[in-house]
Parts: sequence; C-alpha cells; structure tokens
Amino acid sequence: MQSKGSRVRWAESLAGVRRRELRAVWALILGTGVLFAAPGSKAANGKWAPQTAPAAQSDFVGGDVCATCHEEVAKGFALNPHSKLAEEHGKSGVTCESCHGPGRAHVESGGDKSRIFRFSDASAREVDEKCLGCHQGQHADFERSAHGDGNVSCVGCHSIHAGAGGEHLLKAAQPTLCYQCHADIRPQFGMAFHHKVDEGLVSCSDCHDPHGTFNVTHLKSTADQNAICTRCHMETRGPFVYEHVAVKAEGCLGCHSPHGSQNARLLNMPGINMLCNQCHSPVAAHAVTGVSQGSEELTPCTSCHTYIHGSNINAAFLR
Ligand code: HEC
Ligand code: HEC
Ligand code: HEC
Ligand code: HEC
Ligand code: HEC
Ligand code: HEC
Ligand code: HEC
Ligand code: HEC
Ligand code: HEC
Ligand code: HEC
Repeated sequence: MQSKGSRVRWAESLAGVRRRELRAVWALILGTGVLFAAPGSKAANGKWAPQTAPAAQSDFVGGDVCATCHEEVAKGFALNPHSKLAEEHGKSGVTCESCHGPGRAHVESGGDKSRIFRFSDASAREVDEKCLGCHQGQHADFERSAHGDGNVSCVGCHSIHAGAGGEHLLKAAQPTLCYQCHADIRPQFGMAFHHKVDEGLVSCSDCHDPHGTFNVTHLKSTADQNAICTRCHMETRGPFVYEHVAVKAEGCLGCHSPHGSQNARLLNMPGINMLCNQCHSPVAAHAVTGVSQGSEELTPCTSCHTYIHGSNINAAFLR
C-alpha cells in the first residue's frame, strides 16, 4: 500500500506544477534515483507499470539490452525528449521499460511479443494510464475530455518513435493532425473569411486544448475566465464604461463564427444591419433620435455605431 500512497502524493505534487518546474522536479527525482534506478524501489515502479502488481526490479533488464535486438528503434530514441533526460541523468531516466514494462521475460524468450507491453495491442485506457503515470500533472483532465471519453488515446495524436509533426512528438503537425479525424471542420477554414489556420498563423490549439478543459468543446479560457478570443483581440475585452450587453451576455459567438464565415469580419449574418436587427428594432431606436430612417437600409449601423464592442465615451457606441 506504500506504493499507492506514493503514487497519489506524486500526482498531487505534480498537479499545477508548470513545465519548467516539472523539469526541476524530474531532475530531483532522477538525481536521487528514487523513481527509476535502485533495485527494490517497487513503490516507484508501480507508478508507470500497469495498474496491476508492481514488478520486481529483477524483471527489468535496462535499455542497453533492448538495443541489442531493436537497434533501429534505440538509435532513433537517442534524440527523443524522453531519452534526452535519461542521457542527462546517467541513463537512469525514462528508458524503454518505463513505457513497455519489465522486459526480462520478453528477452529470455528471444522476443516473444506477448511478453512485453505493446501499445498497438493495448486499449485506449491502458495506453493513457501508462502515459498519465508521468504526465498526469500536465493533463489531469484528459480522461474527462471528449478525446479521452471517445477512446482517442495519447497515441491517437502522439507517436513516441515516429513523431513527424516536429514539436511535441506529434504524429503530424496541426492542422493536418486534427483534420485527419475532423474532416468536417476543414471546409470552415476554406471559407471566404476565416482564421488563418491553414496558413499557419493561428493554430487549433490556440483556442482548443486537445487534452481537455472544463469548457465545452475543449475551449481554452483566458486568465480572467473570458472566452479565449480576447487573449488575441484585446481591444474587445473591456471593461468599458458603456458595455454592449450583447457582448457580455451572448459572448463573441453571438455575432461571430469562430472558424470561418462567408461574411466579412466572420459575422454570423450576411449583412450588419440584419445582424443588429435580430435584437434591435431600428425604427424604434431612431424614431426617438431623429436619425434619418432612410439611411438604415443602405448605411451599415456600424458606420455610426463604430465602437460596437463597447465604449468609454458614448452610451450609443458612436465614439
Ligand atoms: C533477444 C532479442 C530481443 C531483445 C533483447 C528485446 N527484444 Fe523486443 N522483440 C524481439 C523480437 C524478435 C520481436 C518481434 C517478435 C515478433 O514479431 O513476433 C520483438 C518485439 C518487441 C515488441 C513488439 C513489437 C510489435 O511489433 O508490436 C516490443 C514493444 C519490444 N519488442 C520491446 C522490447 C523492449 C522494450 C526490450 C528491452 C526490454 C526488448 N524488446 C528486448 C527481440 C528482442
Ligand atoms: C515514452 C514511452 C516509450 C518509451 C520510453 C519507449 N517506447 Fe517503444 N513504443 C511506445 C509507443 C507509444 C509505441 C507505439 C508506436 C508509437 O507510438 O510510435 C511503441 C512501439 C514500440 C515498438 C513496436 C514497433 C513500432 O514502432 O510500432 C518497439 C519494438 C518499441 N516500441 C521498442 C522500444 C525500445 C527498444 C525502447 C527503448 C529504446 C522504447 N520502445 C521506448 C512508447 C515508448
Ligand atoms: C487529439 C490530439 C491529442 C491527444 C489525444 C493527446 N495530445 Fe498531447 N498534444 C497534442 C497537441 C496538438 C500538442 C501541442 C499543443 C500546443 O501546441 O499547444 C500536445 C502536447 C503535448 C505535450 C507537451 C506540451 C504540453 O502541453 O504539456 C505533452 C507532454 C502531451 N501532449 C502529452 C499527452 C498525453 C500524455 C496524452 C494522453 C493522456 C496526450 N498528450 C493526448 C495533441 C494531443
Ligand atoms: C516514465 C515517465 C514517462 C512516461 C511513462 C511517459 N513520459 Fe512523456 N515525458 C516524460 C519526461 C520526463 C519528458 C521530458 C519532459 C520535458 O522535456 O519537460 C517527457 C516528454 C514528453 C513529450 C514531449 C513534450 C514536449 O514538450 O515536447 C510528449 C509529447 C510526451 N512525453 C508524451 C508521452 C506519451 C504519449 C506517453 C505514453 C506513450 C508518455 N509520454 C509516457 C516522462 C514520461
Ligand atoms: C484520432 C482521431 C482524432 C484526432 C487526431 C483529433 N480528434 Fe478531436 N475528436 C475525436 C473524437 C472521436 C472526438 C469525440 C467525438 C466527437 O465529438 O466528434 C473528438 C472531439 C473533439 C472536440 C470536441 C467536440 C465537441 O463537440 O465537443 C474538439 C474541440 C476536438 N476534438 C478538437 C481536436 C483538435 C484541435 C485536434 C488536433 C489537435 C483533434 N481534435 C484531433 C477524434 C480526434
Ligand atoms: C479562433 C479560435 C478557434 C480556432 C483557431 C479553432 N477553433 Fe474550433 N471552435 C472554436 C469555438 C469558439 C467553438 C465553439 C463553437 C460553438 O459553440 O458554436 C469551436 C468548435 C469546434 C468543434 C466542435 C463544434 C463543431 O463545429 O463540430 C470542433 C470539432 C472544433 N472546433 C475543431 C477545431 C479544429 C480541428 C481546429 C483547427 C483546424 C479548430 N477547431 C480551430 C474556436 C476555434
Ligand atoms: C491566437 C490568436 C487569436 C485568437 C485566440 C482569436 N483570434 Fe480572431 N484573429 C486573429 C488574427 C491573427 C486575425 C487576423 C487574421 C487575418 O489577417 O486574416 C483574426 C481575425 C479575426 C476577425 C476578423 C477581423 C477582420 O478584420 O476581418 C474576427 C471577427 C475575429 N478574429 C474574431 C475572433 C473570435 C470571435 C475569437 C474567439 C472565438 C477569436 N477571434 C480568437 C487571432 C486570433
Ligand atoms: C453584437 C454583435 C457583436 C458581438 C457580440 C461581438 N462583435 Fe465583433 N464585430 C461585430 C461587428 C458588427 C463587427 C464589424 C464592425 C465593422 O465592420 O465596422 C465586428 C468586428 C470585429 C473585429 C474586427 C475588428 C474590428 O474591431 O472591427 C474583431 C477582431 C471582433 N469583432 C472580435 C470580437 C470579439 C473577440 C468579440 C467577443 C469579445 C466580439 N467581436 C463580439 C459585432 C459583434
Ligand atoms: C444578440 C442581441 C444583440 C445584437 C445582435 C445586437 N445588440 Fe445592441 N444591444 C443588445 C442589448 C440586449 C442591449 C442593451 C439594451 C438596453 O439596455 O435596453 C444593446 C444595446 C445597444 C446599444 C445601446 C442602446 C442603449 O439603449 O444605450 C446600441 C447603440 C446597440 N445595441 C447597437 C447595436 C448594433 C449597431 C448592433 C449590430 C452591429 C447590435 N446592437 C447588435 C443586444 C444586441
Ligand atoms: C447615421 C448614423 C446612424 C446609423 C446609420 C444608425 N444609427 Fe443608431 N443611433 C445614431 C445616433 C446619433 C443615436 C443617438 C445616440 C444618442 O442618443 O446618444 C443612435 C441611437 C441608437 C440606439 C439607442 C437608442 C436609444 O433609445 O438610446 C440604438 C439601439 C441604435 N441606434 C441602433 C441602431 C441600429 C440597429 C442601426 C442599424 C440598423 C443604427 N442604429 C444605425 C446614429 C445612427
């Protein structure tokens, strides 16, 4: 039970730790050899071994032994972010067996496939458990996310040995990676007006966290819990002396389509006046003020109501 306790404490200590700090935590652990090295540290082994009984230290043979038969894989692994860490810490870091489990039986049988953890054979949950054994602190919400829940495991997007997406061991770079499964989204970024995702200016993960968030559709949020949009479009954020209630109540999506639109400014409606008139009766509005009603059909409302997201000077957003 000591094993369970240490796993829980470890997960807690990782939760909320940022990446750079995480690195330091790793260094500390690797330095003391608690997690990876010394024989008999069963508690630590339980952390990444399958959630069954922890394996005995003598069941591990070390990465150098794997390399004797899996030369190609081992060669590629030297450049892996998992391996770099091992190199830095006297090869006691993440090794083959941290992920594939103890390899002695596999080795002694001359390479019996059934005697080693194979990701290609494992269920999505089993894969996630392996990876989250170490990455829980970064991606604690994963199993609750649409991806975790939909059995898209870590290796649906990441490949440890054949990452082709450059950064982060991704199977392919964004947005190609995402379109492989979300083909229906692609046409939205091909519309006349769109966020320049295909052009590489904005990426899916600027707005979504594929590992899950507490918001619908995995949307990221800004520090002040506003929609992610205001992180880049600061000028719309406010607070303003005169808020446009629509922006606060409906959010940006009340008037804009986030991916793409046939309408300029990513608007939901083909005309600005049409958009405004969903909520406002222009006749009623301007009967009071005496603004020529004839102009409303031809002149967009925003040619006068310029500060449509809110204003600090004018209650009708004219200035
Ligand atoms: C004595 C040589 C030998 C050693 C040492 C060895 N393997 Fe293997 N391994 C093999 C052979 C041969 C196969 C292919 C078996 C097959 O295709 O049926 C294999 C298959 C595998 C597979 C499954 C590949 C697949 O197609 O799914 C994994 C994973 C694996 N080995 C990991 C390891 C790890 C990790 C180590 C070190 C702990 C290791 N092997 C050490 C010979 C070896
Ligand atoms: C961080 C976890 C991790 C580590 C460390 C790791 N592997 Fe793998 N291994 C995987 C995953 C995941 C797969 C499934 C294919 C993929 O994602 O690239 C895999 C697949 C394999 C395969 C099957 C062949 C293939 O490409 O599908 C072999 C053989 C293998 N690994 C051997 C090794 C050896 C040898 C080492 C050490 C040099 C090692 N692995 C280190 C996670 C790991
Ligand atoms: C739906 C695709 C997808 C799945 C599934 C996925 N990832 Fe990721 N992962 C990404 C993308 C895309 C990035 C790059 C994020 C960015 O650029 O902000 C990333 C980045 C990472 C990073 C490095 C940066 C960071 O955010 O911490 C780690 C570590 C990681 N993923 C681990 C995992 C683990 C562990 C799992 C399974 C529990 C997993 N990922 C499942 C797509 C995915
Ligand atoms: C034994 C612990 C351990 C296991 C198991 C493990 N990782 Fe890692 N992973 C690490 C460490 C340590 C790093 C390097 C951390 C760093 O660079 O900040 C890393 C780095 C990564 C990165 C690169 C992060 C970046 O910023 O580029 C990705 C992606 C990743 N892991 C995904 C996975 C996936 C997917 C699995 C399961 C197949 C997995 N890891 C299993 C410990 C582990
Ligand atoms: C291996 C297939 C696969 C890949 C790759 C993938 N997804 Fe998904 N995605 C799914 C599945 C399956 C679901 C859950 C079912 C659904 O809602 O369509 C999902 C759900 C989502 C959702 C939630 C949809 C909703 O209605 O709540 C978002 C957002 C999402 N994915 C974004 C991304 C992004 C961004 C990427 C690229 C970084 C990506 N996905 C890569 C398969 C994938
Ligand atoms: C500018 C921010 C932004 C970018 C970039 C972005 N999304 Fe979205 N996405 C959103 C918002 C906001 C929603 C919620 C829409 C709603 O609720 O009507 C959403 C909804 C979704 C959904 C679920 C609803 C649906 O239409 O099926 C999926 C899946 C999705 N996005 C995938 C992606 C993929 C894949 C990419 C990259 C190719 C991407 N998104 C890029 C903001 C963005
Ligand atoms: C990662 C930064 C980023 C995020 C997050 C983001 N945008 Fe954008 N947005 C941009 C960039 C960059 C452009 C300009 C693209 C171009 O030059 O075509 C843009 C363009 C726009 C435009 C069109 C502006 C014009 O002049 O035509 C609208 C409207 C818009 N975004 C709304 C939103 C909404 C709504 C959200 C939230 C769902 C959002 N943006 C999230 C970066 C972002
Ligand atoms: C009540 C409807 C409405 C809401 C809600 C709304 N917008 Fe707009 N937005 C517009 C209109 C209309 C335009 C076009 C103004 C023009 O063409 O003069 C616009 C234009 C923009 C532009 C282009 C640059 C500019 O200022 O003209 C960006 C960027 C933008 N909106 C982002 C956002 C963001 C981010 C949110 C959420 C915080 C948001 N909008 C909420 C109606 C709205
Ligand atoms: C989703 C509904 C919605 C849309 C779309 C919308 N508004 Fe509004 N707007 C409101 C609400 C609600 C108020 C607050 C009304 C109140 O306080 O009586 C408001 C307030 C205003 C005010 C200030 C009125 C006052 O009484 O001080 C102006 C001006 C205004 N809107 C113009 C526009 C224009 C121009 C557009 C189109 C670009 C637009 N609105 C689109 C809902 C909307
Ligand atoms: C030619 C300039 C102009 C155009 C075009 C225009 N407005 Fe106005 N609007 C004004 C002025 C000026 C006021 C009065 C501001 C004040 O009272 O301080 C006003 C006031 C309003 C008010 C607040 C009324 C109130 O009772 O305080 C609303 C709502 C409004 N306009 C909506 C619209 C909508 C919707 C459109 C497009 C269909 C539109 N306006 C087009 C100039 C214009």
